Amino acid sequence: MAQTHDRFDYPDLLTFADGSPVTTGEAWPRRREELKRLFQQEMYGFFPPAPQKVAAEVRFADEGYLDGRATLSEIALVLGAAPATSINLLLAVPNARKGPVGAFVGMNFGGNHTLSDHPRVALPQGWVPNWIEQTQNNRATEAARGLRADRFPIAQIIERGYALATFYMGDVDPDTPEIRGAIHAHGQFGTLVAWAWGLQQAAAWLGTHPAIDAGRIATVGHSRNGKTALLAAAFDERIAMAIPHQAGCGGTAPSRTAIGETIRQINDRFPHWFNGAFKRYNDRPEALPFDQHGLIALMAPRPVLLTNAAGDQWANPAGQFEMLRLAAAAWRLLGAGDLDAEAMPELNRLVDSTPGYLIRPGNHSMGPQDWSVFLDFADRRLAGPAPVS
Ligand code: GCU
Repeated sequence: MAQTHDRFDYPDLLTFADGSPVTTGEAWPRRREELKRLFQQEMYGFFPPAPQKVAAEVRFADEGYLDGRATLSEIALVLGAAPATSINLLLAVPNARKGPVGAFVGMNFGGNHTLSDHPRVALPQGWVPNWIEQTQNNRATEAARGLRADRFPIAQIIERGYALATFYMGDVDPDTPEIRGAIHAHGQFGTLVAWAWGLQQAAAWLGTHPAIDAGRIATVGHSRNGKTALLAAAFDERIAMAIPHQAGCGGTAPSRTAIGETIRQINDRFPHWFNGAFKRYNDRPEALPFDQHGLIALMAPRPVLLTNAAGDQWANPAGQFEMLRLAAAAWRLLGAGDLDAEAMPELNRLVDSTPGYLIRPGNHSMGPQDWSVFLDFADRRLAGPAPVS
């Protein structure tokens, strides 16, 4: 049976590709594997294998950050053998912790140096977009230090007892079709998979850090980085929670849509994000064997929070709610809760269930106000942070 929303029929989440129903929680892992295969085959490309070894080198550590409330460090993670991907992970950990803390990990758009004015934070060495800093030659500059600190408000996150880890997306794959990251030597996949793979490796390494609770690591990201945050966690059950913020098309919003971005638009503007097969759906999204409720459902039974803004119709907040509503069948099947709303909530009313949702006023952005929602949700859904004295 297909579900209808607006004018669209979405493939049923609880029906196998051969038409047989998924009736029990025991059958879900098989449906899960089927969805993972289909998403990789028709849309994102196949994930490369995890690196055989990860080398970590601390570039600097400042225990006196934020007047001694946090330790800020940068760690170079070299993933696998040459030609290796190297991630420069910026990590802030609260000093006043009584045990391992929960952590958020997410990619940033312009380089770690845009998030903190700490002089030791390194500038990316490779290509950076020229819409964050006005570069002539796509090279990062000192002028951008701290320019986008409100995107990942470190003091606020530390105050709430969590760690933050972030890296520049271009460390894994520059966001331009002309330059391909080293990881592309390992298979056929689009840039979203490359990024998600990098995020998974960063999360896995964080889980080995003595100050971090491996069971309380959440991915987070804005827009294309939100698509990545969801994709990474959907395909990696070691990640405890995902917060795809304003992720939209190719992430949390339906491909079958009359609102916001379409498959053709995203493929035309960002041909490197998805695989070749996805281009076949440019003018026939209805032929896709899934829609994005299937990707969201891969999070079950874990928590996931979809956050949106009323002024960001490009990301289709209503379509995202519908995807979440349909995905909730997986949580119900597993006895892991349900979406606590039948219709879109009013502005600023958090739907505070394991699959959660929020729409706020305003536009396409991520800032401290959004983080206070993420942190509240994490307090309740990520088993609560270790107490901070
Ligand atoms: C563009 C793109 C979106 C994406 C967004 C962003 O608007 O069309 O799919 O989410 O950029 O990453 O900010």
